[in-house]
Amino acid sequence: MEYREITKGVSVPILGLGTWGMGGRESPDKARDSDTVTAIRMGIELGLTHLDTAEYYGAGHAEELVGEAIDGMDRSKLFITSKVWHNHLHHDDLLRSMKASLKRLGVDQVDLYLVHWPNPEVPLKETMGAMEECVKAGYTRFIGVSNFSAQLMEEAQSRLKENRIIVNQVQYSLLDQKPQMELLPACRKMDVSLVAYRPLERGAILQAPNPVMDEIAKTHGKTRVQVALNWLIAQDCVFTIPKSTNPVHLMEFLGALEWRLTREEWTGLAEAYR
Ligand SMILES: NC(=O)c1ccc[n+]([C@@H]2O[C@H](COP(=O)([O-])OP(=O)(O)OC[C@H]3O[C@@H](n4cnc5c(N)ncnc54)[C@H](OP(=O)(O)O)[C@@H]3O)[C@@H](O)[C@H]2O)c1
Repeated sequence: MEYREITKGVSVPILGLGTWGMGGRESPDKARDSDTVTAIRMGIELGLTHLDTAEYYGAGHAEELVGEAIDGMDRSKLFITSKVWHNHLHHDDLLRSMKASLKRLGVDQVDLYLVHWPNPEVPLKETMGAMEECVKAGYTRFIGVSNFSAQLMEEAQSRLKENRIIVNQVQYSLLDQKPQMELLPACRKMDVSLVAYRPLERGAILQAPNPVMDEIAKTHGKTRVQVALNWLIAQDCVFTIPKSTNPVHLMEFLGALEWRLTREEWTGLAEAYR
């Protein structure tokens, strides 16, 4: 596994494990629980110890499955992120969501708690104040945001008194390069890590034929998935969290590590998909 500082003094695997769709989507689906728990454990054993979940996923069931998978593991070896949904951003709701996530995960503390989506109807001052209370109470080590523009991220940071936003988690992939324009430079300036979600565009990256991709994959003896993930993690301050419950796919993720695209290949890919 390759590690990178997500914030000063805290190194985290640059490749983590997403959990959207595990245990259901908007509501719990328990049909594949046993396979899913096995897959999460396998991911962790492979080094994908940066786990990304949310209260929204499977209406809390994804967190329960992560909790089941990590039960009995050395907590200090894991970096767990969860997120509060946008209808829970008032102070009391947020604290309630935080505690409920901890209970479902079966832990005393998460490493990172994110505001999942901005909600213009709730003052950011109130939300960020509640996030700071979560840190003070020891419910989370760090706080961050998700799906925030550069401007909103700066505003959220300005509402914090004692903490810093350490992550902005956004959609970023070869098929969606928008964060390069404004957000990534702003993250670098503010010392915020960018966690790229949907790095494979839910499999679409495999379907769209692309001769540049195929030539580069052939040169390195890699698959399209491995090249697409490498393209993301080749960038400073970028982490990513692909999701899979398929053991073969989980193994395939690891082939994205320990090598790098050349600068020319990186740019060629960016242009080929833009
Ligand atoms: N903050 C947010 O608003 C937000 C939004 C979306 C996602 N996220 C987070 O980011 C994570 C990743 O995003 P995502 O799950 O939406 O999309 P993704 O990681 O781009 O794609 C996941 C999909 O790709 C398939 N897949 C994985 N490896 C494959 C391979 N080698 N060959 C073929 N198919 C493969 C998976 O199926 P199998 O399971 O069958 O392998 C799954 O259906 C999420 O799980 C979630 O934790 C956050």
